[in-house]
Order: sequence, then C-alpha cells, then structure tokens
Amino acid sequence: MSAQTSTQWTAPEGGAILGIETSCDETAVGVVRGGSLMCASVVASQADLHARFGGVVPEIASRAHLELVNPTIAHALVEAGIELGDLAAVAACAGPGLAGSLLVGVCAAKAIALAAGIPYVGVNHLEGHLYAAFLEEPELEPPLAFLLVSGGHTMIVVMEGHGRYRVLGQTVDDAAGEAFDKVARFIGLGYPGGPEIDRLAAQGDPEAIAFPRPMLDEGYDFSFSGLKTAVVTYVRREPDADMVNVAASFQDAVVDVCITKLLRAAAEAEAKTVVIGGGVAANSRLRTRLLDAAEADGRRAFLPSPSLCTDNGAMIAAAAWWRLASDGPTPMSGGAYPGLRLPTID
Ligand code: KG4
Ligand code: ZN
Repeated sequence: MSAQTSTQWTAPEGGAILGIETSCDETAVGVVRGGSLMCASVVASQADLHARFGGVVPEIASRAHLELVNPTIAHALVEAGIELGDLAAVAACAGPGLAGSLLVGVCAAKAIALAAGIPYVGVNHLEGHLYAAFLEEPELEPPLAFLLVSGGHTMIVVMEGHGRYRVLGQTVDDAAGEAFDKVARFIGLGYPGGPEIDRLAAQGDPEAIAFPRPMLDEGYDFSFSGLKTAVVTYVRREPDADMVNVAASFQDAVVDVCITKLLRAAAEAEAKTVVIGGGVAANSRLRTRLLDAAEADGRRAFLPSPSLCTDNGAMIAAAAWWRLASDGPTPMSGGAYPGLRLPTID
C-alpha cells in the first residue's frame, strides 16, 4: 500500500481503530485501541453457505459480505462500547483476496471515514496476520521469524522491525490450508477441511503412513501439491485404510516441513522468538509440536490464540495502527487489490 499513501499520521493516545476484514469468506470486524488493546472482535462466518460446494464461491461470498458487513460493524461497536464518532481511524483489508469480497469491506470503511471525518487505511491481509500476534503480546521484539500459513498463502517471513519484512520462502504450488482442504474433501470430510482433519487426526497414529516431506532440505520454499497427490494415491491403493491414520500422517508431514523451515529461518535471522499466523496456525498438532521443537532449539514460540490466527478484523485494525504511523492515511482513491503482495525490504 505504501505507493498509495499520503502524509504521516500522529496517533492519538489509545485511539481506537475499527478494522474490517472481508477478503474471503468471513465478514469480520474488530476494534483495537493503541495498536494492541483489543476491545472487540466479531466474526460472521459464511462457511455454511460454501460448505455444500466444497470451497468458497466468490459470487456467494461477496453477496453475503454485503448483507453481513453493516450488522457486523454495529455488533463490534456495541461490543467495544464505542460510537462511530469516537473512532480515530477506520481500516479495511485491501488485498490480497477475492475482488468482489474485498470491495465490500473497502467501500464500507471509506463510507465510515467520510461520514465520521476520520482517516481511512487500506491494510495488506498478510500484514494483518503478522500483527495478530501483537494483540496478545505487544512487547514482541524483532527480529521475529514468522510462519504464515493460511488458505491462500504459505510463507516464512522475517520481521526486522515494524513494517519491515523479508520473505525467505513461500509455496511453489498449493498453500498449506489449501492442501488441508483438498485432502479433507478427498477423504470425505466437510469444508473447511483444516479443522476437520485436525479433529480426526487426534485419534490417529501420525507415524502410520510415511508420506513425503516435500522440499524439507531445500531452503525455505514449500510444495504441498505432491504430498496431496501422495495421499490420494495411497487412499486409492488402500481403500480400507483407517482415515484417522491417513489424516494424522498427512498432518504430521505438513507440520514437520513447516517447523523445520521456521526454525531454520530463525537461526539464520538470529531471531530468538518464532511466531505463527494464518488459519493453519490454529492447528493443534502444529502448535504442540512447535512449542516442543522451539524449546529444544533454545527459542521461544509465541502462538496467538486460534481465534486470532484465522481471519478476523482486529488484526486489520492492529496492522493499520502501524501503517498509519509510518505511511499516513490511504487516499480515498485507493482500491481493492486481489494480488497485493507483502511489502518487503529486499
Ligand atoms: O487465514 P485463514 O482464516 O483464511 C485465509 O486467509 O486463507 O485460513 C483459512 C485456512 C483454511 O484452509 C482452513 O482449512 C485452515 O486455514 N485451517 C486449519 C485449521 N483451522 C483453519 N488448518 C489446519 N488445522 C486447523 N485447525
Ligand atoms: Zn487469512
């Protein structure tokens, strides 16, 4: 967003920012004071609307956002005990994401900015996922090594300072969450598949099937498409296999690769703390194994609560606070950018 921003903004002490997130299938609104004090986080999930299609249908998503955005804003304001006129700024996720869905949040935020006479800021969704951690741990000290694993992205990011990122690696094909969702669909689980696999895997043996660990020893990039194919091939060959073991073994293959690369990145960046974000960071096996692996590696793992790992509006408000301080408000001509990338210092 930096190319589109104007003058600097001086934050009022403890000022409240309303953050709107509509990039995919959650209509979410949060209110955050001073960049890290979360006063409200309301998430209206559309998962039920998309479940029978086995994935997000963009047209359905944008229509549902239109219906849900105003009630969700109203709900968040009540939860925070604040009125529109008392907000210091309003933010919306401006990308990456589905164009029609993003537009709903961006237009709602701009309308509030105009009506209340407050700054608008367009926030990068990925930056939002990184800033979710600061809602629960404002004192996190860069450099931080982040694993960002969601339905659309899988990345290793080193945060050198506020708004200063180096992307060490990312997926060359499917995102981690996409692999969870596709494998879940193949073995007959519902959408979204990640939480379903998480639940099923808890009863299985993660060592039952030796699925591949793609690109484990190759730098920081990821590849999950071959792993997904390995699961499909195995299940076709062994139709009577116990699906709890398939789920547990697949999940551990993803977790192994993610943890290995994250800790390798932390060593290279000399980051004492590793942090996770994005929907897959809610995975219970990833969380318990990362805590152990980081401790064995002499590092601290900070795991935001699962509800802050998945899409939410509070993370957009938190990231907006720092973006406003560094870049100032986003001009009203700023749009929605489906392919927006994380700004890097490389
Ligand atoms: O960050 P997010 O809410 O939305 C995107 O930005 O994509 O991530 C959604 C993804 C979905 O693929 C979902 O299946 C996955 O996160 N997910 C999980 C879990 N909870 C959500 N994957 C594995 N285990 C979970 N517990
Ligand atoms: Zn997300």
